[in-house]
Amino acid sequence: MKSFFGILGDRFGALSKFHGGRDVQRYFPPTENEQSAKDAPKKQKIAVFASGNGSNFQVLAEALREEVGLLVCDKTEAYVIERAKKLGVETLVLAPKDFATKADYEAEILKHLDGVDLICLAGYMRLVGDTLLDAFPNRIINIHPSLLPAYKGAHAIRDAFEAGETTYGVTIHYVNKELDGGQIIAQESFEYTGHDLDELEAKVHAVEHRLYVDTVKKMIDPK
Ligand code: GRF
Repeated sequence: MKSFFGILGDRFGALSKFHGGRDVQRYFPPTENEQSAKDAPKKQKIAVFASGNGSNFQVLAEALREEVGLLVCDKTEAYVIERAKKLGVETLVLAPKDFATKADYEAEILKHLDGVDLICLAGYMRLVGDTLLDAFPNRIINIHPSLLPAYKGAHAIRDAFEAGETTYGVTIHYVNKELDGGQIIAQESFEYTGHDLDELEAKVHAVEHRLYVDTVKKMIDPK
């Protein structure tokens, strides 16, 4: 039987085209049978994984206060830990170097994910391994600051800017073994013809913050 998020994965199969710089988001509401899953009174529980600044963590935690119950961070110095403290979100900080293998590191994380329905990566700077992927099929999503499949990797905004693009955007996608490679859930584009990388980055992040919150809300309560 398909999990709730497996079903959503199919139904939420959205979109990903953009035309003339306009947003295109498609969403398929659940059928009556699927509706019963969403009628369950239980609040969905979300864990956010982040490695750095944490602005996406913050908007998710503020917009979904009851759902975002855990931050998982792999960097002891990351600013996102401060943000979680201020917001009162439980935080698990683990250094991968303290574990012999990625599987051991992820097995330790897994012990803290009881009852978690959805994992949102938000600037989590490592590839998710089989231990977590197998435990959360179709239930790990990521935000990436480009119009995937273009400009994968850690420097997507700068790479697109240096390539002279004039259309930029943000993608939310399911996570699989490939870097920035899973099925696309939502995507939004905009035009930028300026020459200021900082200004462009600010515009991308503003889109990220809105699109991540909107998309996660639709996923956990697909009315
Ligand atoms: C965002 O641009 C996100 O798309 C990418 O990493 C960045 C994280 O920013 N995966 P922040 O830590 O949420 O501020």
